[in-house]
Amino acid sequence: MERLQKVLAQANIASRRKSEEMILEGRVKVNGKVITELGFKVNKTDDIEVDGKPIKLAEHLYFLLNKPTGFLSTVKDDKGRRTIMDLLEPAHKEIRLYPVGRLDYDTAGLLLLTNDGDFTNHMTHPSYHIEKEYLVRVKGIVIRKKIVELRKGVTIDKNYHAKPKAVRLIELNKDHQSTLLSITLVEGKNKQVRKMIEALGYQVKNLTRVRYDFLTLDGVERGTYRPLKIHEVKKLYAHSIAKRID
Ligand code: URA
Repeated sequence: MERLQKVLAQANIASRRKSEEMILEGRVKVNGKVITELGFKVNKTDDIEVDGKPIKLAEHLYFLLNKPTGFLSTVKDDKGRRTIMDLLEPAHKEIRLYPVGRLDYDTAGLLLLTNDGDFTNHMTHPSYHIEKEYLVRVKGIVIRKKIVELRKGVTIDKNYHAKPKAVRLIELNKDHQSTLLSITLVEGKNKQVRKMIEALGYQVKNLTRVRYDFLTLDGVERGTYRPLKIHEVKKLYAHSIAKRID
């Protein structure tokens, strides 16, 4: 059972706020009866009409996007910058899709998109400890001692102890004076990887999310996306529940 305004928003009738207005204005009927109560709950089998027209409940869609840098992980931007919506096919732009969590404007890689709010809540709830792996190219040579320090955790945001699940050294490039690290996190503070690298005394050259739980970017070119398979969605749900730490 879901609240009527949520169902209207999910069916792409209007935003949640606008849907509430429509209910209060007496424009919405459930099973032939006008409903003006905002807390009213409906289920999938109820007949819902708006302004006398039956609505079709939106099916849930899930996509895996390989985000390029230079795109915001938002639906729109007041300053007119490009957003991930600019990467979608016209038919998908019409669906109210939104990102599951965020990647920075300058971060590339794996980002999930969906119109399923419940799924998003599951994936982004702080008590769910889903692994996210990042490849980070760091300016300069990261010495062994610093990698050990990073593994133990570093302080970010003044007093937060950020401890990665795993840190691997992938490449030391003496010619270009850079280091490639893989960092796996089970939490997602704002700009966490960048802040951790800065706390260590280094700068990030570029950052890519390469894994989200068991999902990788395999077969998905930068700037393109693919639908998730139903078994992948189910597996994410199952993992998020199994990994929940209350
Ligand atoms: N950590 C960051 O610093 N940025 C991201 O976009 C994701 C994780």
